Amino acid sequence: MRICFVCLGNICRSPAAEAVFLHLADQAGLDVEVESAGTGPWHVGEPPHEGTLTEAARRGIPVDHVGRQFGPDDFARFELVVAMDSGNVAELQEMAPDEESAARVVRLGEFAPDVGTTGVRDVPDPYGRPQAEFVTMFDQVETACRGLVEHLSGDR
Ligand code: 4NP
Repeated sequence: MRICFVCLGNICRSPAAEAVFLHLADQAGLDVEVESAGTGPWHVGEPPHEGTLTEAARRGIPVDHVGRQFGPDDFARFELVVAMDSGNVAELQEMAPDEESAARVVRLGEFAPDVGTTGVRDVPDPYGRPQAEFVTMFDQVETACRGLVEHLSGDR
């Protein structure tokens, strides 16, 4: 199974989701290949944002990523494209080469355990915000990634 997490800049949220999900999937013995990308071009080739690196290190989660931009060809490389917010979903669906590809775009919040009461929530963008917002972003990402690991483990 190949999964790509996608946000706007690929320096804050999706590199966090990639690292957190890989960490949890490894613990669960799930056989997955995980990447992340952004819909925007601004941070291609750059390391993740300091806020994401700092919070990942605090949680003992390794991060190994260089910024890249998601393109139409990537739909052929990933079975699941996991977006952070509804803006990312809209851009990805517009970019998708066909309906089958567009149908493989989901929002990370769909896998949060409280989705039944709150509905699908976006992961808010912490870019340019205080470090505390990176901490809450990681909390939200980690909870939903646990749900995604469970979802995929059920498919085994
Ligand atoms: P991300 O945050 O989508 O979570 O990586 C952003 C980072 C950079 C920009 C926007 C969002 N930017 O416009 O440069």
